[in-house]
Amino acid sequence: MALKTLLSLVSVVAALQGANAALTRRVACPDGKNTATNAACCQLFAVRDDLQENLFHGGQCTAEAHEALRLTFHDAIAISPALEAQGKFGGGGADGSIAIFSDIETNFHPNIGLDEVVEMQKPFIARHNLSVADFIQFAGAIGVSNCAGAPQLSAFVGRKDATQPAPDGLVPEPFHTPDQIFDRLADASQGEFDPILTVWLLTAHTVAAANDVDPTRSGLPFDSTPELWDTQFFVETQLRGTSFPGSGGNQGEVESALAGELRLQSDHTIARDSRTACEWQSFVGNQTKAQQMFQFVFHDLSILGQDINQLVDCTEVVPIPAPPVGQAHFPAGLTHADIEQACADTPFPTLPTAPGPKTSVASIPKPNVNSS
Ligand code: HEM
Ligand SMILES: *[C@@H]1O[C@H](CO)[C@@H](O)[C@H](O)[C@H]1NC(C)=O
Ligand SMILES: *[C@@H]1O[C@H](CO)[C@@H](O)[C@H](O)[C@H]1NC(C)=O
Repeated sequence: MALKTLLSLVSVVAALQGANAALTRRVACPDGKNTATNAACCQLFAVRDDLQENLFHGGQCTAEAHEALRLTFHDAIAISPALEAQGKFGGGGADGSIAIFSDIETNFHPNIGLDEVVEMQKPFIARHNLSVADFIQFAGAIGVSNCAGAPQLSAFVGRKDATQPAPDGLVPEPFHTPDQIFDRLADASQGEFDPILTVWLLTAHTVAAANDVDPTRSGLPFDSTPELWDTQFFVETQLRGTSFPGSGGNQGEVESALAGELRLQSDHTIARDSRTACEWQSFVGNQTKAQQMFQFVFHDLSILGQDINQLVDCTEVVPIPAPPVGQAHFPAGLTHADIEQACADTPFPTLPTAPGPKTSVASIPKPNVNSS
């Protein structure tokens, strides 16, 4: 289908949704400014505005937004029916435990660096009236809304907060094998997050960088456009890794194709695994897919361990992100010949090469920890 047709379909759907919302009775919020479909959503407007102004620099897709998204995953994925079946506590999923018990959970190895974002978010949690569990997922959705090309992520209120920390060992590590990661995500989601949905979840790494994989350098992006929700992550992880100073060499890291970019071993191996390689490649250039599939899996991720019937859908409070910027391309100096083809069924798509000489990817500035 031509992209134009697809886009016009999407806007027809959006217009219909708008019409439906207009027919729904709305309540006036106590703030005298906003209306909502459910009174429980009213308080979120102030939380949103506070986050945008005082955490996300007026609505930017910078390190704070990336870290808020990473935090949603590390809170939610810590749930294990398999542990419960052994008579042990398996964690509560999206229950805020990573912040409530931050002294314990941010010391777990895969949560390295998250103490920072938890500390940044604590003053916001203190001055609003949300459960910690709701706050973490909401902050992630608002952060992502600042990334051009992103989907509007869902927001719910009513989650129950954790009364005990999650056990260690439930968050995937970049040095885990695809089997380990697939098994862990399937356990956490009672089978829903299969290898294909794991690829969908990893779309998050389009707005991401590593601060702690390489102990000597921080803010190393996973693609050349970490401020955009685009499909460059899927293009660039499929390029042949090359040897240059700072490429590969740390635990959980393999050689990347561009100086300044960091490639996680887990992204590299899942991009090349026979179960997932074609799904990975299918995201290249498919912006609609990168939006819709992540929107779908985030919804389910963000309520792991919670009863959806007890929650109120407040997605309407999440800003609609700016439209996508740019088209999928090979970074300057690289071509189709640099692709390490892994999907056996379909050739890698033909893409233009960005003009100019091969460049390096700029590191992302550190968050301003005193921004709150
Ligand atoms: C499933 C296997 C996954 C593994 C092994 C993994 C691993 C990692 C690692 C090692 C980092 C770098 C952390 C650092 O050094 O600062 C990272 C960053 C990140 N991850 Fe993942 N991740 C996975 C899935 C996900 C999912 C499902 C999401 C979101 C829903 C996510 C969101 C992010 C984000 C947004 C960042 C960037 C944080 C920043 O820029 O500060 N990851 N991930
Ligand atoms: C705080 O949230 C709870 C639960 O949503 C609600 O019952 C209560 O009225 C709120 N309190 C204030 C001061 O807004
Ligand atoms: C993009 O992905 C969607 C969802 O999987 C699919 O229906 C569509 O055909 C894809 N578009 C292109 C141009 O491949």
